[in-house]
Order: sequence, then structure tokens, then C-alpha cells
Amino acid sequence: MVASEIRALFAVAARPEVVSLAGGMPYISALPLDAVGEMAGQLIADRGAVALQYGSGQGDPGLREGICEVMSLEGIRAHPDEVVVTVGSQQALDLITRIFVDPGDVVLAEGPSYVGALGTFASYEADVVHVPMDDDGLIPDALAAVLARLGRRPKFLYTCPSFHNPAGVSLSGPRRAEILGICQRAGLPVVEDNPYGLLGFDGEPGRALRADDPQVIYLGTFSKTIAPGLRVGWAVAPAGVRDKLVLAAESAVLCHSSFAQLLVREYLASQPWREQVKVFRELYRERRDAMLDSLQASLPAGCRWTTPGGGFYVWLGLPPGLDAKAMLPRAIAARVAYVPGTGFYADGAGLDHLRLSYCYPEPDRIREGVRRLAGVIDAELELRATFGPTR
Ligand SMILES: Cc1ncc(COP(=O)(O)O)c(C=O)c1O
Repeated sequence: MVASEIRALFAVAARPEVVSLAGGMPYISALPLDAVGEMAGQLIADRGAVALQYGSGQGDPGLREGICEVMSLEGIRAHPDEVVVTVGSQQALDLITRIFVDPGDVVLAEGPSYVGALGTFASYEADVVHVPMDDDGLIPDALAAVLARLGRRPKFLYTCPSFHNPAGVSLSGPRRAEILGICQRAGLPVVEDNPYGLLGFDGEPGRALRADDPQVIYLGTFSKTIAPGLRVGWAVAPAGVRDKLVLAAESAVLCHSSFAQLLVREYLASQPWREQVKVFRELYRERRDAMLDSLQASLPAGCRWTTPGGGFYVWLGLPPGLDAKAMLPRAIAARVAYVPGTGFYADGAGLDHLRLSYCYPEPDRIREGVRRLAGVIDAELELRATFGPTR
């Protein structure tokens, strides 16, 4: 296990003079914190003996009912018995990998992929093989080609089909059926990681992969729609995997925080959570627009970036010859932070890309951050013109 690029960055990026476009922290101040505080106090006063007691490895049944209601917004029809509560979706990723992967096993993952998933796969010594994406998400032909070329059967495909971290793109409708078809024919389990599915900026949420294939192992979380500090996520999986998930969860943590689970359950039952998700969507949309407008206004020719329809991230490609990792200290000196693309690949790729997040800073700070970043890229281009490529 090695420290991720993001981890090393957090300390520097947290300085107030730095505009951090690096971390993916939700904007918690937009939650009705007073109401949540009142609920928490009331919960302890009324049901403290349960809320502060051990619970079950599968999670609170009432919360699991609420989770099924949340998932129905993306077309998933699941029974509460099919849901396993986890410590955020990060723990679900860990448990799934623990169940499926022995050292040296192959895991397929989009290139680029969420850094936290890659860290988990590495800690179980998986051999990650990336499958390329484009603006419509994972490329079906590329997946088929990787499967044909590998000669070994991968343990699963890890994918984040909606508002991808870090690429900011979504798997198009027609490709969803194609990818599911390829995986079904190859007997390849699909792990769908979906923290951002409800945070689309245009219209109602789309359908999750799991909505069209009950064999899909689905990971959800309240980290982006309520708060990551609660550490409440979940997995939905076919029966055999689900039983193992409960055993693995029990061996990892005995049970999840009863207090956090009951708080989320109460929040779903008594607060206007659908309206609150809309509040988040509007807020993040405004920030996405601020970022896209200022990228358009200030970045030099040769840069290209994705246009996210939801979620938290823009994936930015640098002009040829520039190295996002080498540029980072100069960006920090210019008081702007991002995550170099290499963090999102298991194989050293991604030097010419970086991830920008727009979820946390106010729009004015985003504009200022992009202005600073543009200055840094301009200076790199001048260096390259004088001394040749930096890589
Ligand atoms: C794609 C993806 N998966 C999983 C997680 C982990 O989320 P949590 O453990 O807070 O549910 C994140 C967090 O940023 C993420 O972006």
C-alpha cells in the first residue's frame, strides 16, 4: 500500500490561500444542519438505547427499506433483504474485492478510474487492466478486445457509468445494453459504483445498469446526497455474493454504526430529501457552469476537457508534451491545486491529464482557480517552447 496522490495533496491544498480544485468534498453547508442536529438529539433522547447499541451485519431493516426507495429513482427494483449496509461505498468496494480477488487476479476498470477503487484493488494485489473510455463512457469494442486478448478470466468489471469520477462523462444509453451484453456473454460480473447518479444537471435521473440486470453488483452511498461524515453506503448483490458480503462486513466491523443508520433512516422519513437533492444539483450545476465558462475563456489552445452532465469532476487534457505531475508544484506555488491524471491509472498512464473538481469552492473561487491554472499552463508552454517537452 502506498499513499495516493490525493492524500499527499490534501495537506497543501487545505491552506486557505490555495484554491483547491483537487478534492471531491461535497458542499455540506447546503444541508439543513439545524434540522439534522435536532433529529440527532431527538434520536438519542427517544431511541438512544437502540441507536447506541450494536446492530446487525446486514444493517438496519428500516434503513434498507429507505435505500430501496432511493434506488427506485434510478429504476432499480430491489427488496430490502437484498441490501447490505456498508461504511460508505468505499467499504463495499473493499469487501467485494476481498470476496472475489486473490493476488494476481485480473480486475477490469475504466481508464481512468476512481483512485480509491484502484487503491483497494492494489491492496488485494489485483492486476488492474484498464479499458479505455471516450465522451460516451466505456467503449464496448475496447472491452470486447481486452477480453479476447487477455486469455485469463477477469474477476469483475469495475465501472462508474454515471457522472464518472474522474472523467466526468456518462455511459450512453445504447452502450449500457452493449456493455451488459458483453459481460453476460463472458460470464463477467459487473460492479456498478454509483455515488453521483442522482446528481445529474439535466432532467430526471437515468437508469442504473442494475435496473436492467439483476446480476449487477450495485454500490450506492449517501455521501454525496446527504453527508460523507455519516459513512453510510450500501451494496445490492445477487444472493450468493450478498451472503458473503454480510460475513465479510461482520469480520471487518461487526456491525455498522447504529446511530448513523438510524439518523439516515429518520432523515429519509421526515426530511424533504428529494428537494434537498435538487438543491445540491442546482448548486453543483452553477459551479460546473462557472468552471466550464472560465476554462473556455482562459485556457490556451491544445487543452481539451469533458463537459460533465452531473457529478463533481472535469477531466482536462493538457497540450502535447506537458506533464501534469511535474507541473503540480508550480501550480501549488501559483495557489491552485488539482489531481494529476496518473492517480487514476494503475499503469502509470494519465501524465497528460488532470482532474478538476468544482463541488466545493464557490463559483468566484472556481473562476479564480481556473485563471491561476491557465497562467501555470501558459508558463509551461513557454518553457516547452524554450527548452523542449517536459516529458
Ligand atoms: C466513484 C466513487 N466511488 C466511491 C467513493 C467513496 O464514497 P463513500 O465511501 O464516501 O461512499 C467515491 C468518493 O468520492 C467515489 O467518487
